[in-house]
Amino acid sequence: MTVVQIREEQDIVRARTTAKEAARELGFGLVDQTRISTAVSELARNIFLYAGEGEVHIEELNNHHGIRVSFIDHGPGIEDVDLAMKDGWSSVRAMGKGLPGAKRLSDRMEIHTETGEGTTVTIEKWLSPSSKLRIAPSPKPRGGPSLT
Ligand SMILES: Nc1ncnc2c1ncn2[C@@H]1O[C@H](COP(=O)(O)OP(=O)(O)OP(=O)(O)O)[C@@H](O)[C@H]1O
Ligand SMILES: [Mg+2]
Repeated sequence: MTVVQIREEQDIVRARTTAKEAARELGFGLVDQTRISTAVSELARNIFLYAGEGEVHIEELNNHHGIRVSFIDHGPGIEDVDLAMKDGWSSVRAMGKGLPGAKRLSDRMEIHTETGEGTTVTIEKWLSPSSKLRIAPSPKPRGGPSLT
């Protein structure tokens, strides 16, 4: 597991690039790497903005199944999670797209939060069988006679 501490704004970029690199190593294609890094960027930014500091945990799921990223803070918590998950709802008149966007970009998202205690958001992205095949792409013959 890799831990990225979030304390200052540039840590958001570090979390994003660390997660993207981990996803690449696990065999995710570029499109999924971008989905993951975008979700990580939004959720790490939420830590920075609303809790001030926290941690991002990046880990591989069992048996090369995918990636899990957890966002842990001990900030104010989210009072109404259903409301916070609504596309366009923001307590600070921002876009309100971070949480719902991260959910759409993930295969699974879970939020544990308690007012005054903090928030943990967990996202998972799973490797599809076809993306697993892409880990070691076989070179395609170009131009030459077809083998089939
Ligand atoms: N880690 C957190 N701790 C406390 N509150 C949070 C946390 N993450 C999100 N929230 C609350 O949930 C609301 C919705 O979050 P979301 O990321 O969807 O939108 P936003 O941050 O307001 O805007 P955007 O992400 O589009 O710039 C936030 O406005 C904030 O009130
Ligand atoms: Mg946000």
